[in-house]
Amino acid sequence: MTTFDQILPTVARVLRTSSGLLADLDWLLINRDLNGRVRFIVSERIEGEQRVRVENLYRTLAEDIEPHGYPVECGILYEQDIDQACQGTIRFALEDFDRVWVVDRLASESQWVPIKNVAEDVPRIVFFSIKGGVGRSTALAASAWHLARLGKKVLVLDLDLESPGLSSALLPDERQPKYGITDWLVEDLVDNGEGLIDSLFAMSDLPTDGSIHIVPSHGQDPGEYVSKLGRVWMPKLKNPLQPEAWSSRLNRLIGALEARLHPEIVLIDSRAGIDEVAAACVTDLGAHTIMLFAIQGQQTWTGYRSLFAHWQSRGVITKIRERLQLVAGLVPDDERRADYLARLRKDAYDLFETTYDETGPGETGGWNYEPDDEYAPHMPLPIRWNRGWYGLMSLHGRMTQVDDDEVRLVYGPLLEFLERTLSGEFS
Ligand SMILES: Nc1ncnc2c1ncn2[C@@H]1O[C@H](COP(=O)(O)OP(=O)(O)OP(=O)(O)O)[C@@H](O)[C@H]1O
Ligand SMILES: [Mg+2]
Repeated sequence: MTTFDQILPTVARVLRTSSGLLADLDWLLINRDLNGRVRFIVSERIEGEQRVRVENLYRTLAEDIEPHGYPVECGILYEQDIDQACQGTIRFALEDFDRVWVVDRLASESQWVPIKNVAEDVPRIVFFSIKGGVGRSTALAASAWHLARLGKKVLVLDLDLESPGLSSALLPDERQPKYGITDWLVEDLVDNGEGLIDSLFAMSDLPTDGSIHIVPSHGQDPGEYVSKLGRVWMPKLKNPLQPEAWSSRLNRLIGALEARLHPEIVLIDSRAGIDEVAAACVTDLGAHTIMLFAIQGQQTWTGYRSLFAHWQSRGVITKIRERLQLVAGLVPDDERRADYLARLRKDAYDLFETTYDETGPGETGGWNYEPDDEYAPHMPLPIRWNRGWYGLMSLHGRMTQVDDDEVRLVYGPLLEFLERTLSGEFS
C-alpha cells in the first residue's frame, strides 16, 4: 500500500527506469489531483508507438502507487501545451528531472507559494508563529507603541481573523471603529468596500509623538461574524475569466489604507500555524520582513521544518529567506534563560542552515551566516517572559502605564531590529 508521502518518490523511481522515453518527450506533467491521485499529462502531439510507451509507463506507475493512480484508460491526459495543462496552478520541477513537473491541486486556495515581491514604499512587517499563545500580539502592540513613541506613523492590522484580539489591546471599547477587515472583505464582493474605508480604522489614544492607526478584524459590534468570516476567502468573480483571489483583494485593501493614512510602517498580526490566512500574510502581502515567533519545543521546529521544506521543494526559498527573522517568545527570566536560549539557537540554526548557500573553505559571498552571528536571521531576538505582561485583563490598560525602560527591558532586541529596519539598514 502506498500513502501520500510515497507518491513523488515512487514517481521519481519509476521514471528513472524510462530515461529513454523521457528524453523523447518535450515535457511530462505529473498531475496530483484533489484526492491525491496521479495522472500523466503529455503533449497531444505524441502519437503511435510513443503513446504506447507512455501508457506502459503509466501502467507500471499506477500499480506501484496503488491506490493513488487510475486505470490506464483514464490516467493520461493529452493537452496542447504545458501552461494550458496547469490551468493556473503553479508547477514545480520533480527533483532530478529536467522536463518533468508536478502540479499539485489543493483544496485550499493558498499553497504558500508563489512569494509576492516586497511591497514598494511602506515596509509591511508580518508577525507569524507556528504555535499560538507565544506572545506575538502583545509583542506587536509593544512594537507599535514603541515606534509611535519614536514619532513614527504606524498602521496595525489584526489579521488573526478567526481569533481576533489585537484591537482591544490597543483601543478602549469606545474607540473601536464601526467596521473591520472582515466587513470590508465581504462588502468588496458586491463592490461596496470603498464606502467602508473611513470607518475601518481608529487612532490609538496612547500618548506618543507619532500615531498608531488600528484596523481590527471586526467592528465595535461584530454582527454576524461567523457568517461573514465564512465568506472572506471568496475570490471576486466580477470577471469570471479572471477571478481575483481573496488575498489579492486583501492587498487591495491594504493599499487603499496606506493611500489614506500614509503610514511609515505596517505591522500585521497574522494567524498562527499553517493556515489559509497565515499563508496570505506570509507569502501574498509583499511582506518586507516576517517575524517568525518560536518557543523552544519539538512542535515549533516540526512546524517550521515542514514550511521550509515546502519552500525548498517548490523552488522559492531564495525568494523568501532574506525576509525571515526569528523571534524567541516568552523566554524564561530566571536561571533557565541561558540554557533555554542556547538550545533554541541551535535548533534555529539547524533550521535556517537549510536555506543558506554552501560556501567552500575561504569562499565568501552568497547567503550565509555563521551560527553565532548576532545579526543572522536565525539568531532569535529574545523577548523576556515578564510578570508585568502576563495574563493581562487589559493590555490597553497596561500600555497606558508602561514606560520606555520597562518596554525595552522585555522587548529590546525586537525593537532595535525594527528600528534598524525602518532606518533602512535592512532595506
Ligand atoms: N513578555 C511576556 N511575558 C509574560 N507574559 C506574556 C508576555 N507576552 C505575552 N504574555 C502573555 O501570554 C499570553 C499570550 O500572549 P499573546 O496573546 O500576545 O500571544 P499570541 O501569540 O498572540 O497568542 P494567540 O496565538 O492566541 O493570538 C497572554 O496571556 C499574555 O498576557
Ligand atoms: Mg494573538
